[in-house]
Amino acid sequence: MKTITLFANKGGSGRTVSTMALASGFLTQGRRVSVMDCSDLAGCEASPLRAWREQMATCKFHRGQLDLVECQGREEVEDNAAAAKAQGIEVLLVDTSARIFEPQLVALDMADLIIAPAIGPLEAKRISDSVAKYLDTPKQLYGLVIGSHNRLPPAGKTRKAFGFHPVFKSELPWAEALSEQVLNGDIAQFVASLACKPDEPGFARFRAAQEAWTAVQRLTFEVDWALTGQRLEQYAIDQPHFRYEKEAVA
Ligand SMILES: Nc1ncnc2c1ncn2[C@@H]1O[C@H](COP(=O)(O)OP(=O)(O)OP(=O)(O)O)[C@@H](O)[C@H]1O
Ligand SMILES: [Mg+2]
Repeated sequence: MKTITLFANKGGSGRTVSTMALASGFLTQGRRVSVMDCSDLAGCEASPLRAWREQMATCKFHRGQLDLVECQGREEVEDNAAAAKAQGIEVLLVDTSARIFEPQLVALDMADLIIAPAIGPLEAKRISDSVAKYLDTPKQLYGLVIGSHNRLPPAGKTRKAFGFHPVFKSELPWAEALSEQVLNGDIAQFVASLACKPDEPGFARFRAAQEAWTAVQRLTFEVDWALTGQRLEQYAIDQPHFRYEKEAVA
């Protein structure tokens, strides 16, 4: 089982949206996925992940392919992670809160990969400045740029603000298909529900959703590679287009 923990010590950074999107991405690859809610809304009626899970239940995945557990304490995190492993879950996605307490620290500590989403340079800078406060051993932390929308600076600035941390080449766009996952459940199914021809009304909405879904799938592959220590290299003119380099293992 691979554990991926979403981390951003600032509210509204896109942790929950990215968790749900990656769950859709891995489910489409046929993986067995468990989502662990370690956010401050775990156990609450208003939990977005609970509403999302209900929608996902209508999306015709195999029984047992998707699970949601809510954790409020250290033991719950440890026990549920062990249970997920025993049940044959392949990918454990852990959503956390902006404030980091013991359960979130455990979730960070047990992660094979930490994904830090940022919707702007402010979030990215805050992550890069403070991550050492929470992680005393070097960990696989990757920044994730959530593509900018009109009110935000260009995505390149967010990428830069992550400093020396690696950042996924794939970005998530600002899109209805991602922001409305709580209402729609699986992204692929949402795209299918919008499908129409170019001359029919709603085609632009369908195309935007399709684009967002493609971005999610691209990111899912990149995350999967990162889990095996592979990273997409910076593209240089004299390099072959796809060159992946296995990281050295000490
Ligand atoms: N790619 C995206 N496209 C559209 N909207 C997005 C996207 N990513 C995030 N949002 C919106 O930004 C807001 C914050 O996102 P999200 O809830 O995922 O952040 P969070 O880090 O989990 O925040 P919180 O601190 O509330 O837990 C939400 O309203 C969400 O719909
Ligand atoms: Mg959240």
